[in-house]
Amino acid sequence: MQILLAERHGFCHGVTRAVNLARTAAAGEKNVYTVGPLIHNPQMLERLKDEGVRCVSSLDDVEAGTVIVRSHGEGPGFFRKLKERDLQAVDATCENVKRVQKAARSMVEQGLRLVVAGERQHPEVAAILEWSDPNGITLKTPEEAAMLPKGEKLGIVVQTTFSVEVLRDIIKKLDTSGLEYELADTVCPATRLRQEAARDLAEKVDVMIVIGGRNSANTKHLAELCQESICRVYAVETADEIRPEWFSAHDRVGITAGASTPDWIIEEVKQRMENMDEVMEAKNERLEQGTILAGKVVGINKDLVFVDVGQKAEGFITLAELAWPAPMDAHDAVAMGQLLNVLVLEAETEEGSVKLSKVQADRLLAWDKLEEALQEKHSFEAVVTSAVKGGLSISIFGIRGFIPASHVDIAFIEDLAPYAGKTLEVLPIEIDREKQKAIFSRRAILEKLRRESETTAIGNLAAGQVIRGEVKRLASFGAFVDVGGIEGLVHVSEMAWYRVKDPAELLKVGDAVEVQVLNVDSETRKVSLGMKQLLQDPWLSAVADFAEGTTVPGKVTRTSKFGAFIELTPGVEGLAHISELSDKRVATAEEVVHVGQKLPVKVLSIDPGSKRISLSVIKAKEDADRKDFEQYLEAPTSLSATIGDKLGHLFKNTKE
Ligand code: F3S
Repeated sequence: MQILLAERHGFCHGVTRAVNLARTAAAGEKNVYTVGPLIHNPQMLERLKDEGVRCVSSLDDVEAGTVIVRSHGEGPGFFRKLKERDLQAVDATCENVKRVQKAARSMVEQGLRLVVAGERQHPEVAAILEWSDPNGITLKTPEEAAMLPKGEKLGIVVQTTFSVEVLRDIIKKLDTSGLEYELADTVCPATRLRQEAARDLAEKVDVMIVIGGRNSANTKHLAELCQESICRVYAVETADEIRPEWFSAHDRVGITAGASTPDWIIEEVKQRMENMDEVMEAKNERLEQGTILAGKVVGINKDLVFVDVGQKAEGFITLAELAWPAPMDAHDAVAMGQLLNVLVLEAETEEGSVKLSKVQADRLLAWDKLEEALQEKHSFEAVVTSAVKGGLSISIFGIRGFIPASHVDIAFIEDLAPYAGKTLEVLPIEIDREKQKAIFSRRAILEKLRRESETTAIGNLAAGQVIRGEVKRLASFGAFVDVGGIEGLVHVSEMAWYRVKDPAELLKVGDAVEVQVLNVDSETRKVSLGMKQLLQDPWLSAVADFAEGTTVPGKVTRTSKFGAFIELTPGVEGLAHISELSDKRVATAEEVVHVGQKLPVKVLSIDPGSKRISLSVIKAKEDADRKDFEQYLEAPTSLSATIGDKLGHLFKNTKE
């Protein structure tokens, strides 16, 4: 076996610096803390704990001492709290992370709409947003890139450990979507080189071992990259997880490791691999019925396949043990040089050979895989063989599985026949090897995806934002509109400035609409949207023709116990309070006005917020009288005109 180490692997300089700073701090004093794990490697964290670096979940758990700010940085709120609490801080924020924070801030200062390519929940991304624009948008996929808002220039920065491949696809999507953007490619150079080295090595080997913490995002990206080549890929946290049956005697094995994997774990894995030849030899010497081995196809004839399993004598597989259903010709099932897992059926036949089974080895390994997947909540792709009573029958690693109808999709599907022949991603929900029972759910995956995309979408929404969406459903009380991964409600009262009785009057499913975000509740995941806010309010336009203190003609539209409603122009009416209807004391409005009556009214006040206009009939009349009086005073007197002629009506009113 040949073992090759990727050119770049393991601790990056940012992680090395953070670990060294924490160790130095712990050597000098007792109370050294990190809020959250310093790195994504449980074994290393244990060592640091032994050295006195304690990991707590919140700053509130720290009474006194020194806090190490982790390499992916923290937001201003964290630093403020450190100061308020008078805690010592050792800032281990990686220089590359600071570079992203600065780039993001500069984008915002230039007036660009901030977009961070990365995971919103990742502490690095959360801190970038907190330093620059908490309402910045985040995205993880090219599909999300296509949903970015048009009409404003975007400023894009990238999480340091983001996948270089996915970023390339996102850029392609941005360019084809006609979006205007400025990009700061802030993927950390160490990440880029590590990913390239892993991909190059995976092209050259039969098996790739990726070492790193299960929670480490960059280790996960490395494994995904390696899986794009044809080699077999195994992700492990420690050397103990490595199993001899993953290898055959002639394999070329590559090793890479994530940024949080310490050298000593990589060394342990390497040593175990170097001893693997001996382990396999010893295993071969003890070759027993029921053992599963890795082998290489070294000969094929019509009825038999010969496999090198590291024994002096070759093993053989009959057609019935090669595949299910058995092929007519072994050439149809395997190729020369192909690597297989095989079960030893007979350690030594009469002819001195080893009888092997591929079908049974695959089946046993499949149950192992399914049991592990159930524990680890891993999903798989499976082919639907047929729609059966109550659900779908699927084939997964050669095992027959079942998806109950209620687990096929989020909404219940009546007709399952169209699913036959399709490949679906499924999650095991019940695995019982004894009873040969394997139950799967697709709904669980769809719900998880929906939750994730809702969380990202909610994080990207803020009240006041104007966004494009697609109408998904109509209800009597409004329309549900998809705004980038979450459905928000446009209540019927928020659709137009006039009264809409039925949302279908304005919208239909599939319509693209522009909406304004009115409210976002991230706890209940409820988003309220409005359409009318983007339209000119006709009331405001109409009311612009009226000014406070002016007298205008009006028409009584209705009366009530507290006054009369008077229309100034269609769609705009005000209230003349009963005390403003007459200078005499009246019990009801009807005593002095009637519906349909036209009369001048004085505009006392206009409140655009509540859309209320206060009117007065008395004051309009008083103004008119005052005007008459002023005209009289200004007019030249003549012998024939007396005060009675000019203002007699005023005295008449007073007398009455
Ligand atoms: Fe820094 Fe890159 Fe490592 S950002 S912490 S050098 S992966």
